[in-house]
Amino acid sequence: MKNELILILDFGGQYNQLIARRVRECHVYSEVVPFDLSIEKIKEKNPKGIIFTGGPASVYGENSPKCTKEIFELGIPILGICYGMQLMSDLLGGKVTRASKREYGTMQVSIDNTSFLFKGFENTNEFLMSHTDYVEVLPEGFKNTGSTLSCPNAAIENTEKKLYGIQFHPEVNHSVNGTKIIENFLFNICHCTGDWIISSFAQESIQKLKEKIGDKKALCALSGGVDSSVAAVLLSKAIGKNLTCIFVDHGLLRKNEGDEVEEVFRNQFDINLIRVNAKERFLKKLAGISDPESKRKIIGEEFIRVFEEEAKKLGAVDFLVQGTIYPDVIESGFGKSSVIKSHHNVGGLPDYVDFKEIVEPLRDLFKDEVRKTGIELGIPENLVYRQPFPGPGLAIRVIGDITDDKLTILKEADSIFREEIANAGLHKSIHQYFAVLTNLKSVGVMGDERTYDYTIALRAVETTDFMTGTWSKIPYPILEKVSSRIVNEVNHVNRVVYDITSKPPATIEWE
Ligand code: XMP
Repeated sequence: MKNELILILDFGGQYNQLIARRVRECHVYSEVVPFDLSIEKIKEKNPKGIIFTGGPASVYGENSPKCTKEIFELGIPILGICYGMQLMSDLLGGKVTRASKREYGTMQVSIDNTSFLFKGFENTNEFLMSHTDYVEVLPEGFKNTGSTLSCPNAAIENTEKKLYGIQFHPEVNHSVNGTKIIENFLFNICHCTGDWIISSFAQESIQKLKEKIGDKKALCALSGGVDSSVAAVLLSKAIGKNLTCIFVDHGLLRKNEGDEVEEVFRNQFDINLIRVNAKERFLKKLAGISDPESKRKIIGEEFIRVFEEEAKKLGAVDFLVQGTIYPDVIESGFGKSSVIKSHHNVGGLPDYVDFKEIVEPLRDLFKDEVRKTGIELGIPENLVYRQPFPGPGLAIRVIGDITDDKLTILKEADSIFREEIANAGLHKSIHQYFAVLTNLKSVGVMGDERTYDYTIALRAVETTDFMTGTWSKIPYPILEKVSSRIVNEVNHVNRVVYDITSKPPATIEWE
């Protein structure tokens, strides 16, 4: 079955991801494509509706992004947002002008609620406006359906041609009930049914990968993180043993994590898995290194070297699988290029791996959609909902230089902390929590003995974007239990402290 599709023409606006997201939240599949996608390709995709995004350019500016006018003749409903509305007006013979003053912020917008687009709205609504240009003269056949005090044409439409334009941004939370406008467009104007669910994505994606790759060979670097895991399982369902996964275990993973990854991929999914136990190699390179950025660099580079060596043994492959997800896709060139996701955000692509093409099966998915796909594919929940774990792993949680003994101490302490957080049912509300082995030793007393041992710091943060966050107010009895277990069960730790700093000013990691 072919899904109904909403095509989102990307004119470079900062909220474009959100538009795609909102459409999918309404259970209609959406795809973001470059603004200059050819009319043939658009017809081929046969969308139920098209959305023009906003963008920073001016339609009258030199080299401003434009699509072909033929798009308006397809009979497909189009919603132009901000720049998208201005472009629609300009191409159809209206006039777009620079306003004397930039309008930015949540504005009272008066609308004509008899319009299909505004069904169910009051006459006045709060929507986010962010523009300098505005449509001064409407193209022929259009009528005004909305205005603000300073923008006479905040909404326009030509119902006969099913063309709609809004100067404001319905996709952002600042616009009250903004999603309802998108819903109205999808269901009242494009007549979508809204039957897209993530399982259709998974099945379709497997089918597409089968067609694309056929009986050729693909190679995937598996990190144990959610993205590469889901990408690997999709590929394996599509091409089976023609996929090889290389899992570089740098020895800096959490307790038992390497074995868990191996168990899932080798045994549960029967994937061709090469696990490289490279701990010694990494520790050797890291010996005596205390500077956090140097640690990151060394690990990133070494990871690539190990991956390359293994890949070389396999010889040429046709496809290299990358777990790039939608938020990784660079917005720069109007959605045309994507960041190559390195597994440690440092090294980039391996230089010498012999492949012809990259496949990125998740490049259109948001993180929560990747997770849902993972569950759909049968990947264990604890892996799919795993908290973020930095590429350099425990290396940046052992403060100062790294030794095998220090790693063992940290793994044990961290495992106790995670176990108790899960026992208390807090693992879903605290977004990231871990132990840090500080390089501080202090005096303690155990029985009659004086001790001089390490201090473990516990870190737990609540955040939505990991750019800012607050320290988690874990109940004292839980902290007490964690502390008591760590000093009793982990050798060489005699003190536990709790980090009560938010981000900013502190970062989440200690290094
Ligand atoms: P900070 O410490 O900067 O961390 O507040 C924000 C988020 O990024 C993760 N992090 C990393 N992830 N490589 C990664 O893949 C790194 O070098 C790295 N450093 C920090 C951190 O765990 C948190 O989720």
